[in-house]
Amino acid sequence: MCGIVGYVGKQKAAPLIIEGLKRLEYRGYDSAGVAVLQDGKFVVAKKTGRVANLEQEATRHRLNGTHGIGHTRWATHGGVTDANAHPHVSSDGKIALIHNGVIENYVAMKKFLLEKGYTFKSETDTEVLCNLIAYHYAKEPAGANGDSRFVESVRKSLRHAEGTYGIVVMAIDAPGELVTARKGSPLILGIGDGESLVASDVSALISRTQNVVYLKDGEIAHLREQNFSITTLSSGAVSPVVDKVTWSIKDAERGDHAHFMEKEIFEQPVALENAMRGRFSEDGSTANFGGLNITANELRSIDRLVFLACGTALHACMVTEHLIERFARIPVECDYASEFRYRNSPLFHNTLFFAMSQSGETIDTLAAVREAKRKGYKVLAINNVVGSTIAREADGGIYQHVGPEVGVASTKAFTSQLLIGAMLALYLARLRDMSFSDGTQLVQALKAAPDLVRTALKEAPRIREIAKRYAHYTDMLFLGRLSLFPIALEGALKLKEISYIHAEGYPAAEMKHGPIALISEKCPSVFFVPKGEMLNKIVSSMQEIKARKGPIIAVVTDGVELPPALADEVITIPDCHEAVLPIVASIPVQLLSYYIAVERGCDVDKPRNLAKSVTVE
Ligand code: AGP
Ligand code: GLU
Repeated sequence: MCGIVGYVGKQKAAPLIIEGLKRLEYRGYDSAGVAVLQDGKFVVAKKTGRVANLEQEATRHRLNGTHGIGHTRWATHGGVTDANAHPHVSSDGKIALIHNGVIENYVAMKKFLLEKGYTFKSETDTEVLCNLIAYHYAKEPAGANGDSRFVESVRKSLRHAEGTYGIVVMAIDAPGELVTARKGSPLILGIGDGESLVASDVSALISRTQNVVYLKDGEIAHLREQNFSITTLSSGAVSPVVDKVTWSIKDAERGDHAHFMEKEIFEQPVALENAMRGRFSEDGSTANFGGLNITANELRSIDRLVFLACGTALHACMVTEHLIERFARIPVECDYASEFRYRNSPLFHNTLFFAMSQSGETIDTLAAVREAKRKGYKVLAINNVVGSTIAREADGGIYQHVGPEVGVASTKAFTSQLLIGAMLALYLARLRDMSFSDGTQLVQALKAAPDLVRTALKEAPRIREIAKRYAHYTDMLFLGRLSLFPIALEGALKLKEISYIHAEGYPAAEMKHGPIALISEKCPSVFFVPKGEMLNKIVSSMQEIKARKGPIIAVVTDGVELPPALADEVITIPDCHEAVLPIVASIPVQLLSYYIAVERGCDVDKPRNLAKSVTVE
């Protein structure tokens, strides 16, 4: 959660930091703030609401310094107020701090600091850590080496901090220096030409530099204009690896689209092409993944797969489960990462774990990865963000390669996860029972996915009209069977997230075991109605809804003929292979949620209470 930017160089820091915060706003948008060290003191501007509010506030404060920090908050401790906004300055005025995460033992720390005479203006855990650093800074001998005094005071304080943090610190006597450290929250250093930056996401650095260092948990970096150094919490030196970012600032811009979500929905054909590029074998009968770090023989000996994820990514895992069990006949279990971590479920010996996460930073998924590894299991990751924590901690994995996803509601990342899940099913199946010709057919089917999605997107104008008629409802059901049940869950999640309409997803036949009590003319249902063996059963479920006056939106595959007047609205998608159907069926529900949210005047890219990447428990 929360966006962090720090800058030290020759340019005015505040405009650069605010520009970076705009790119990070999707990570949290309760409040925003910036602090600059100028004329020997910290000048702080902070304001509840969006970065745009901060911009006005910053102008009033005449922030001219070339060294500063900025933050967009997703509140965990203390309400959404100006006082609780970051940056925080210690009560002795010596330390300024921004923080992403939660300091779990802040109550005990605060008691200690109150006894030492420190005072507090906010209700946050962050301000407590800020004062603890000030306490150690005051105690640390000034000595000949001013640098180490600053770093040491941060290091000592963090040894007492329980919980998660990504922090950037300024000290009043250290102009031109930033200290930054992480445990559980992402931080990336930007190594520029005569300037150094730090941010919680590459998108905030990329306009200044493409050279980045991914800070690891337990590391502390000391940034200056011309250089930087990294040590560990236990003070060991670290040799940093500088990586080059391969995408450009244009990839993270909205262009002519009204929202990032709209841009990302329409980018999906290209995103799918990118996700599959170079990943089919020369003989055209299977998929290849470069970074799995696991041999074919090891994979043949696996008896069980466990997929760990949260939210939308978990829905992608559920579809993957269906396809792997269907094609590769390996038992698969999907688990909420947040539950797996604490459940201590019995695990089989020959089990392989997959962690699916767009951001690669979701703390629940990361913690589950660590738990599985602690117990001696291999964990492979499916991530979009290159260099993310989960990608680095996993034993191997697959990148989604769909470029930055900025809209809080995941769309292109989701469909690329579905594609990679289907390719994984193919790969595993071909290592076991699947024949050459079945493999070739599946490869052809998967290659067709981008064009099928292009066709499905052509329905957008019609779906927009339908959305106008359904935007006033307060409840909605999404119903699908087999591999489209997770798409029903995803459709309901999308609608809830961005339009605040209460929605639930169910297997279509399960509806009669309870949810049917909700049905009336006031509660529409979205049904997935593909051709195939389940068609008549799904139509029967629709009849049961219609008999109770429930309005119906049917998403049918081309060629399905419904009894007259059964559906109030029909959206047609191309008929396609079962491995591609979940991808294509996702398009109308993404569009429906998007247009309903727009119709209701909702802030689509920044839905209330949410943040793009959830780095707190
Ligand atoms: C998606 O629309 C949601 N915002 C959310 O459920 C998200 O998928 C979840 O938090 C997991 O994120 P991750 O893929 O980055 O781990
Ligand atoms: N716990 C801190 C707060 O509530 C930081 C939250 C964040 O990560 O934005 O202010």
